[in-house]
Amino acid sequence: MAEPKEIPLMEKIVSLCKRRGFIFQSSEIYGGINGFWDYGPLGAELKRNVKELWWNTMSRQRDDVVGLEATIIMSPQIWKASGHVDTFADMMRECPLTKKRVRADQVEPQGGTAYCFSGAEMQIDEFMDLLSEEILEAVKKGDAEEAKRKHELFKSLREKEKLESGRFDELDQQSQSFKEIAKFLSQVESPRAQAIASQLYQAIKEGWRKHYRTNEPVAVLLRSGEHPESARKKARQFYEALGYFVPKLEEDRTEPIQDSTDFHPESGVKLSPARPFNLMFKTYVGPVESEDNVAYLRPETAQAIFAQFKNVLDSSRVKVPFGIAQIGKAFRNEVTPRNYTFRSREFEQMELEFFIKPDEVVEAIAGHVATAAEAFGVPPSGGSGPAKAGTPNEPQPDWGWQAWHKYWVEERIKFYEGIGLPRTTLVEYWQKPEELAHYARATVDILFKFPFSKRDEKGELMGEELEGVAARSDFDLSQHERFSGKPMGVFDEELRAAWGELDDAKKSGLSKRYYDARLKYLTKTGVEQAKAEKEAKEDADGLAKGQYIPHVIEPSAGVERLILALLCNAYYEDTMPDEKGKPETRVVMKFHPRVAPIKVGVLPLLKNKPDLVKKALEVRDLLRPHMNVFYDDAGAIGRRYRRQDEAGTPFCVTIDFDTLGEKGPELKDTVTLRHRDDGRQDRVRIADLLSLLNERIG
Ligand code: GAP
Repeated sequence: MAEPKEIPLMEKIVSLCKRRGFIFQSSEIYGGINGFWDYGPLGAELKRNVKELWWNTMSRQRDDVVGLEATIIMSPQIWKASGHVDTFADMMRECPLTKKRVRADQVEPQGGTAYCFSGAEMQIDEFMDLLSEEILEAVKKGDAEEAKRKHELFKSLREKEKLESGRFDELDQQSQSFKEIAKFLSQVESPRAQAIASQLYQAIKEGWRKHYRTNEPVAVLLRSGEHPESARKKARQFYEALGYFVPKLEEDRTEPIQDSTDFHPESGVKLSPARPFNLMFKTYVGPVESEDNVAYLRPETAQAIFAQFKNVLDSSRVKVPFGIAQIGKAFRNEVTPRNYTFRSREFEQMELEFFIKPDEVVEAIAGHVATAAEAFGVPPSGGSGPAKAGTPNEPQPDWGWQAWHKYWVEERIKFYEGIGLPRTTLVEYWQKPEELAHYARATVDILFKFPFSKRDEKGELMGEELEGVAARSDFDLSQHERFSGKPMGVFDEELRAAWGELDDAKKSGLSKRYYDARLKYLTKTGVEQAKAEKEAKEDADGLAKGQYIPHVIEPSAGVERLILALLCNAYYEDTMPDEKGKPETRVVMKFHPRVAPIKVGVLPLLKNKPDLVKKALEVRDLLRPHMNVFYDDAGAIGRRYRRQDEAGTPFCVTIDFDTLGEKGPELKDTVTLRHRDDGRQDRVRIADLLSLLNERIG
């Protein structure tokens, strides 16, 4: 990977992506839309290759995985059952001044001096001046007749000298006249007029005395060098936004602050307490925008797989253990989309839900459950650190969830290696118990060392999540069974037969373990104790009849994150001699040939020599049915090579006069095959070209 991997490198990558048509900002001509990205001609090819490789590896090349393509909008019941309606939220804190939100866990610690204000008093005289100004503004703007009348009314109120600050009773007595003025101002198209109107309404409703002052505290953090007046200005703006016009501040105290995450990073104003903010995009199905018609854009593809589990099982010749794979769009209203495409609001997931037998069932059938250590020769949780090479075996009938989990972590890392992300760029991170999602027994995040990742104390990149491999137990199928009322269990003839062979002690031991697990799930999800015990007993009794709800291992990867990892990993700058032999800096995207958007560039040496062009077109047409070919006849050959280097094309084929046999019959129908990474050039026969390229592209 190129060195050094730091922010300037990210900028170079972002700029290359736009210049060469990998990634564009969505709706760019209208200023863009935060968190949404489009993929240009090269990006679209790269994405397609990645998805196809995932699909082939995870489904087509396996006997135990089948595919699914479900809709993006599904019954909202699915999201209630999955827990997304209630719990798919980020904890957010808000700046009370700017209303900007930040994720509670992403505020960088700051220090300085906090200026703390304990409240403010509205200055009635100044407020009345503002009111007068605003009415005069309205006179100037248009609706002159009405405005003039209101101004007269207001003047007469003031002339009677009844509106002095502190004489709240008299202000209260004028509420009818103020109501009239408030109504008028609320119709004027000016934010300030409307703010004053709402202030007036509030004062009329609550009584001026009550509304005159507030005890709402606010604190503003000043970093060194900032003037205290800027804290007061922000505090005044805060109280004005609450409706206390021209507020007189009650300044309490100053406080030294160190490493605090309580202040907004931009405004410096003390943040509100953390509150949950649901990340699902809401919409309405049908013409009526009512609560009954609410639907959500799916935040993950996984739930459709669980909801269609029975249909897939009944319509395909699959038996547990087996998996269902799906690739598709997912949407999350991320609060802070960041790091280019890393956290987007619209993205694609490649998810496999791999259904396995519960450990009790494995033990009943196979006699014992192999631990991950037995299955792989390594402990199930190797702790966090560089991805280690395990010794992945062929799946065995005695594998329990831990062995299957480890197996999928290994399979996924092998997949990444196979498309050009070396193990040294990946980190296998075992989530700590307190980090696990409510449904997970264990989760391994496969991290990639993105240039923007944090660094550890040794200065090493720590990596950011590329994929999560979660052991989700039987949570999802159980939830859908409870919410839909449709059975999600399977019948397993092997279990029924094996159960009959077990001795009583074994039967009751396994039943008890299964009962305990089911009871734990049912009570945790809020089922009342007596009902939970009854249902858990029925589930445990089901084992003897060969029935159980499968458990799930879920490798879940994001397409965009993988594309970004491939782009970061591929970016290199090096020097190569130009046509005249002078060293020249070039940018080269060293994509693995499997993912490269263009596999081969076909280049006639000169475009004004019909024989060369004819031959080059023949070569293009020979290769095109088998791979993505780019034909380029424009410019000097060295420049054309550089263009293909930037696009990440691993091979270029040049058709020259030798190809036409002009320098002797032995070179006739041979071409130059140029290798992107080291610039090496081989002479190869056109007849061998296809098989040679196919072999290298893999
Ligand atoms: N079904 C499990 C699930 O959705 P997740 O960890 O929330 O788990 C899985 O998401 C993967 O989807 C992540 O590892 C990441 O690659 C991708 N992903 C999640 N949120 C994303 C976002 N906002 N932008 C891009 N990719 C995202």
